[in-house]
Order: sequence, then structure tokens, then C-alpha cells
Amino acid sequence: MRMPENTSQQTIQEGVAVLRNGALLVIPTETVYGLAADAGNDAAVQKIFRLKGRPADHPLIVHIADATKITDWAIDVPDIAYRLAEQFWPGPLTLILKKHPRVSTAVTGGQDTIGLRCPDNPLTLALLRAFGGGVAAPSANRFGRISPTSAEHVRAEFGQNTPPVLDGGPCTLGIESTIVDLSRMPPRVLRPGTIRLERLKALMPDLLATADATSPRVSGALEAHYAPVTPIQLCSRTQLQTAAPDNVVVLALETLPAGVRGIALPADADAYAHGLYSALRQLDDMNAQAIWLESLPVNEDWAGVADRIRRAVTGSNPGISSC
Ligand code: TXA
Ligand code: MG
Repeated sequence: MRMPENTSQQTIQEGVAVLRNGALLVIPTETVYGLAADAGNDAAVQKIFRLKGRPADHPLIVHIADATKITDWAIDVPDIAYRLAEQFWPGPLTLILKKHPRVSTAVTGGQDTIGLRCPDNPLTLALLRAFGGGVAAPSANRFGRISPTSAEHVRAEFGQNTPPVLDGGPCTLGIESTIVDLSRMPPRVLRPGTIRLERLKALMPDLLATADATSPRVSGALEAHYAPVTPIQLCSRTQLQTAAPDNVVVLALETLPAGVRGIALPADADAYAHGLYSALRQLDDMNAQAIWLESLPVNEDWAGVADRIRRAVTGSNPGISSC
């Protein structure tokens, strides 16, 4: 299902038919690609868990066409949910709300809450509008591995088992949505993304920036996640310049030091996020013994990227984590 420049209505209808048949469909979003199924069909939802190799108690995000659909999935919806949706949807913000009793626990991993998001991608929005229901979709990668930011990445993950792909080209943002828990007060950020904390705090002054032990489970918040196979170690610029031997590849900021193999990403948090997962995949494919990653600026702009890197370091190498 490769997309021509002007996506035809027929392609969207084909995608809708796949979902209605209870089959899996790969969908583009502005954050990362999703592995989608009809959220109202338990057998279809179970196929997601099987293909990803994801434990059944890890909840999925349900993607919806707009905020009017929130009450199909959630109850006791606080006003702030609508104000956030108005400002950030379609966009990279997932709201955790109390689930509607009608919603199957297959999709919520057995929890009494539900994650809802309206993604900002024209193809997927058209699909959601035509489908009418909710679409459950985790990132389209095997459990614990790097999220895909292009259709090629998804095919590299699942090979011959790749479901039909709605190809929307490269994702514009590149890391997963910000998750805010509104199921209890005060609200909390469960997973940082590209939306800056101040923008959320402008609407929720009591917002807490991190999850606590009693927060609902977020698999993206496991200490080991988003990981390449090659061990990652954090390094200073000086270490990168002086020490990189042949069997090491580097992920540098702005410029690649002379004589060193690897990739440089811009020293701008959004541009870095856009390139991060693709860079990690390419570095993983270079068959080095280690990836040396240049330390990032420490400030709020980098919160989402720093979160993913911390987990990727742990996931790729539970032992050593710096040079
Ligand atoms: O940007 C994104 O959010 C992407 C795209 C495809 O929309 N999706 C994504 O899905 O990252 P996934 O499943 O890889 O990560 C979603 C996170 C998981 O960590 C999951 O545990 C959490 O959302 N989540 C979903 N429903 C939840 C709930 N009811 N309570 C707490 N966490 C929830
Ligand atoms: Mg994921």
C-alpha cells in the first residue's frame, strides 16, 4: 500500500477495510509509526501484542479523530482534558483518563484508565475520520527496541510479517508523544515528549513533571527501552575526539570529529529528536562494538530526548553507561 503523492480516497478506504477485517495496519503519525488495530475488537488488539512481543499488561494508546470522541472511551473527563485537546490536538499529546466501563481491558492492559490521542498526520486523520472508531496503536517496533520513524524502519522490524503500510513518509517530530495522566489530580507527566513543560504548565500550574511509584504503568517508562543492540555509552566531546577507536561509532552533536566513524545531529532539541531514532538504527547497522554518544545540553528543551537516551543506554547495556 505505497502512497502516491496525492493519496487517493481509495487508499484510505483500503486501510479502513483492513481495520474492519480485524487485521493489523501500519499507520504514520507525526511522532513515530504505529502498529494499528480496531480498538473495539479484542482479537485484533491481541494481534498487536503478538506481533510486537509486548506483555499483555502494557496498555495501548487509542487514536481518535477529534475531541468529540473522548467520551466514547473515557468517563469523568475533567475540563482540562478539553482545554488541552483544543490547544494540542491534533498533535503529540496523549491524555490518560478514566476508562469507560464499555471499553475492553484488552486495550488498557487490565487498567481502569485509557490513553487517548489525536495524531497530526493527514493520512491517519483521514483514516480515523473514515473509520469512525478508535484505533489502538503502539509504536511499530518489537518490544523494547527503537521506534520507527519511516515505513522502511517498520519493514526492517517485522520483515515478511509486516502488515500493510500506510506510507506517510518520514515522521515530522521523531520521538513519541508526551503523556499526561489526568486520571487523578494533580496531573502528572508520565512520559516527556516534544511539547515543552512550560506550555503544559500554562494550562496546568499544578502539573508534576515526573511519574511516581503509584502512577499507571507506562512501558515507555521502563528503565530499559528504545534500545539498539549495540551498547551505547555517554561521552564528552573531548573523549569523542581523542579516543574513538575503529570498532566504535559515535553520535556527535553538530559536527563529526575528524577521523571518526558515525553521525552528527544538530544541537537543537527538536532537530535532534527528528533524527535520533534513524541515527541509532544506522549506527546499530555499522556493526561496531559500541556507540559513543556525545552528552547533550542539560535543560528543559532536551527533556524528551534525554529521557529516550537514558532508557536506550540502559536497554542496550545494563552494565557500563559512560566512557
Ligand atoms: O507518539 C506516540 O505516542 C506513539 C504513536 C504511534 O502514537 N505511540 C506510542 O505507543 O508511543 P507505545 O505503546 O509505544 O507507548 C505508549 C505508552 C506506553 O508506555 C503505555 O504504557 C502508555 O503509553 N499508556 C497507554 N495507555 C496507558 C494508560 N491507560 N495508563 C498509563 N499509561 C498508558
Ligand atoms: Mg513504544
